[in-house]
Formats: sequence, C-alpha cells, structure tokens
Amino acid sequence: MKLSIVQTNPTFDEVQKNIDEAIALMESSPADFYVLPELFNTGYNFSTVEEVEQLAEPIEGITSTILKAFAHQRQCYIVYGFAESDDDVFYNSSALVGPTGLIGIYRKVHLYYRENIFFKRGNLGFPVFNTEFGKIGMMICFDWLFPEAARTLALKGAQLIAHPSNLVLPYCPDAMVTRCLENRVFTATANRIGSEDRGGFKFSYIGKSEIVSPNGEILTRLPDNEVNTAVIDIDLNEASNKRLNEFNDIFKERLKSVNHYL
Ligand code: ACM
Repeated sequence: MKLSIVQTNPTFDEVQKNIDEAIALMESSPADFYVLPELFNTGYNFSTVEEVEQLAEPIEGITSTILKAFAHQRQCYIVYGFAESDDDVFYNSSALVGPTGLIGIYRKVHLYYRENIFFKRGNLGFPVFNTEFGKIGMMICFDWLFPEAARTLALKGAQLIAHPSNLVLPYCPDAMVTRCLENRVFTATANRIGSEDRGGFKFSYIGKSEIVSPNGEILTRLPDNEVNTAVIDIDLNEASNKRLNEFNDIFKERLKSVNHYL
C-alpha cells in the first residue's frame, strides 16, 4: 500500500484552515493511507481548560465528518489527532477512518508536561484495528518514550503503528528506529513544524516526520522546517515475520526469556 506521512504547520484555534491545509497536502500526494499530526486541527499549545472546552470535538464531530468524506471519496484511510470531548471529559485522541467511516479511536496514555492539566489519561488501552491492508495500531507522540506502548500494540498483532505527533524533544525520530527493530513493525510518525508561543509557554516542533521499516530502515524522513508529505510503498505482511535469523524469532525468544524479566 502507499503510506503517506503529512507534515503540517497548524495555527492555533484555526480549525477550518488547519483542516484545509491537511486536505490540500493529501490531495497533492495520492496514497492509500495517510497519517496526520497530533491535534492537527486545533494546534497543541492550549493555555486554559476553557480553550480545550471550546475546541474539543466528539469522536464524530466536524473534523471527523470532513475526513470521513475524504476517505470515502478517495477510498483511503486516515489517522489523525484531535482533542476529544466525551461529555465533560477531554482526551488527546487519534482516530482511524476509512472508506466506510470511523474504524476506531485511541486515547493518549502518556500525557506530556502541561497536557496533564488539560486532558485525562487514555482509558482504552492500545487497541488494534483490522483494515484491508493489515492490522493498525495507534500511539500518540510522547508514547514513544515508553517501549511498552509499541510492544503492546505489536504483541496484539499491529503491523503498522500510526504515530500522530507534535514532537518537541529531539530524540524521537532516532528512537523510533529502535521501536521498529524491537517489534519488527512499521511505524509512521507524522509530526508538525513551526512554533507556538501562548500563555507564557513556547513550544517549537521538530518536523522530521518519518516512516521506518521492521528492519529499522528509515524509508523516508522529512526536513525539520517544511510543510510537506512523503509517500512510501510498503507491504504490511513484512511486519508479520518476527524472525531475525534461523535461531532468533524475537517474539518466541521473548516468551522463552520471560521468567528472566523483572
Ligand atoms: C508530545 O507528546 N506532544 C510532546
């Protein structure tokens, strides 16, 4: 399948403009599966809970409606990050939509820094969803620092981990190589660029969106300052083979060694 990472530069609170930017980028690079950044429609740097209340959407809100229509029209899949309102509870979430509509959501488990003021920790675990191309898991940005997130998804059968991000620390793009190697999965990290200076807090986002293979090969990595996309042809079946060589199947090895952990 043709997998695309979409690297945007959202403006805080300009939801329609941010959606339009993402749609234009997707239109410019035809693909079967797109990954957009974390909170791609609202921007990241909330300064008050009231702003979250104003900008958060239910799972099937306006952003979902627009992206589901795009996915239906183009017969493609999209993973995107958004601020989710569930009655009066807010999550930093991602959704997977496809040609027939909503497939599933993930709610970020590892909340970074001030996200802890605005969002509740995800309560859905790390679900894996079936598509015509293979099994898809999602994690969001800071989840990268916790190997258990990718490991849980891989043990549940995920072949591709879609990873909407708003990275501010410099380590993730290289660390994802290890997440792929230790799980033999594909990852697609879609990050944003630019900076946001609001309410006395400034964040600069590092770009470098990338697709990494189960062998830890960086199949594509975008620059740190460019709104752009990259499309790579991949076969998710490659991620079903956990054998490194004739002696080491990494998941079987793990089971044989499990009594030695902790
Ligand atoms: C982050 O998790 N957005 C840094």
